Amino acid sequence: MKGIILAGGRGTRLAPLTEVTNKHLLPVGKEPMIWHSVKQLVLCCGIMEILVVTSTHHMGDIVNSLGSGQRFGCEFTYRVQEEPNGIAKALLLGEQFSQDQQIIVLLGDNIFEYSIKPHVEAFKKQQIGARILLKEVGEPERFGVAALDEKQIISIEEKPKHPNSNYAVVGCYMYDSQVFQLIRKLNRSPRGEFEITEVNNLYIEQGELQYSFVQGQWMDAGTFESWYEANEILLANNNFILPQQE
Ligand code: DAU
Repeated sequence: MKGIILAGGRGTRLAPLTEVTNKHLLPVGKEPMIWHSVKQLVLCCGIMEILVVTSTHHMGDIVNSLGSGQRFGCEFTYRVQEEPNGIAKALLLGEQFSQDQQIIVLLGDNIFEYSIKPHVEAFKKQQIGARILLKEVGEPERFGVAALDEKQIISIEEKPKHPNSNYAVVGCYMYDSQVFQLIRKLNRSPRGEFEITEVNNLYIEQGELQYSFVQGQWMDAGTFESWYEANEILLANNNFILPQQE
């Protein structure tokens, strides 16, 4: 199992702060934002090989902060996404790196109060398909939103104007090696991106998408308000990620 952290894009929603630094290096609590994803993968899940995808925007600073991985006890590989054309396209850069193993993909601006380990353990047992995480939120229209029947996800809609549930899809995705061939089937969405939501919908069509619910607080720190909340939580916990009951 390998880890992939997606830290591309331009972070325009956090301008002017992101004019002079990469969004994923802004402080959250006492550490750079991207360190949270690294700690989730390495300390919580024991994943030692991690690909970091960045844009060219202050990319050198990301490498300066993370280095080889020695300080975290892992090994980093880096790839550059030239154009911010979507999360799915950023993930495609990880095809060679993943070597047909299962992958855990984290969006570099997502912050979790608790460890993701129990979800990763559940995914390991799956052997085939994908697993995503859901969280009930107050403003679902900001996210990918899952429509559920009693037990299954029926479909996911990206930033719907009229969401049919309050269940946001969280920026932690677990995939088997089929994911790259599914990404190749995608077309650009109306907002001009290759959407990870459409990858997950293809897994739903195949009947191979499992899910679990995130416990505790979760934030996508890509806006000023949610970045502020993420700071409050990680400062209170001294950047420690709480273990979750399995
Ligand atoms: O945070 C969860 C949400 O993340 C999901 O609910 C949505 O379904 C998903 O599309 C995504 O929505 P956002 O609008 O928050 O995505 P954003 O453009 O902010 O990108 C999130 C991270 O993904 C960002 O920190 C870096 C990475 N990214 C994004 C793009 C567009 C890349 O690496 N490359 C990219 O081209």
